[in-house]
Amino acid sequence: MSVSETTATAYPNIALIKYWGKRDEALHLPVTSSLSLTLDIFATVTDVRVADDLPADVVTTADGSPSRAFTAKVVAFLDVIRGMASDDRRARVHTVNTGPTGAGLASSASGFAALAVAAAGAYGLDLDRRALSRLARRGSGSASRSIYGGFVQWHRGDGLDTAGDVSSYAEPVDAPQLDPALVVALVDAGEKAVTSREAMRRTVETSPFFQPWVDASKTDLHDMHSALAAGDLPAVGEIAERNALGMHATMLGARPAVRYFAPGSMRVLDRVVELRAAGVAAYATMDAGPNVKVLCDRRDSAKVAAAVAETDETMQVMVATPGPGAVVGGTSDR
Ligand code: PMV
Repeated sequence: MSVSETTATAYPNIALIKYWGKRDEALHLPVTSSLSLTLDIFATVTDVRVADDLPADVVTTADGSPSRAFTAKVVAFLDVIRGMASDDRRARVHTVNTGPTGAGLASSASGFAALAVAAAGAYGLDLDRRALSRLARRGSGSASRSIYGGFVQWHRGDGLDTAGDVSSYAEPVDAPQLDPALVVALVDAGEKAVTSREAMRRTVETSPFFQPWVDASKTDLHDMHSALAAGDLPAVGEIAERNALGMHATMLGARPAVRYFAPGSMRVLDRVVELRAAGVAAYATMDAGPNVKVLCDRRDSAKVAAAVAETDETMQVMVATPGPGAVVGGTSDR
């Protein structure tokens, strides 16, 4: 019997210029380019064991059996890899996620980045970083960015089908003068009511505010590059905050509206405004969930963490700093 096994570790990333909307649903080709920061908390460790005696893929998580929807996504992703490797053996996948799942904290980004690296290894595919980024994108768009550490841009690419697929990948962006932290305020760790996949589709199809945000996002990305190159944290933060709030505005304009803000999100957003009024450079971003992430300088992170912890709704606060890209290795304690 032939068995091959690889374990990989990846970290989530939080977008400062958001990915919201696909131009191709199957290949996960985005409408816009996006830019993120990979974190050093909430790692996912995934082990893939390929064996020729398995009748079907088996997917397990630390807390037992995952949902059918999760398993179906993993199997669909393995089918992509099996096609690339011309190898139809089935696999056992065990994945351990150390952050909250499905709560807008980028668990799908770390999850599919770790799965891409582990499954590519187990199926014997020798892929460079760019190819791994394109592959991870097939699982979840934002996962393309978690292949790299630090600041990362995911290029939307050009065209559709193969042309789109080969040109849509992530790569690192230098910002040597910045020493940022991202303070994560958990106001609700539950699973989101509407998946990002469904919310994106509804926004693209029905929101009159989608195209204006797409246009604004191009400017935001351009300005973000200048701000990163200049090491200008307040500018980085302002651009990130306006881009995120604009993304949520597109969802509020969808029919029916998608609203991820909870009362606790509003309280934390208020604290961020107060911090700025008090002279602390702190800027908020939110994803497909109610939790708020606050960008600041690492030296201000304790102050920011204390301020956002003060609201009644904040359940937990964690401080993240830039983390590494996806790697082979780690322990999933199967
Ligand atoms: O990659 P997905 O399908 O989980 O979508 C992620 C979308 C946002 O987190 C809201 C924005 C982003 O760029 O990460």
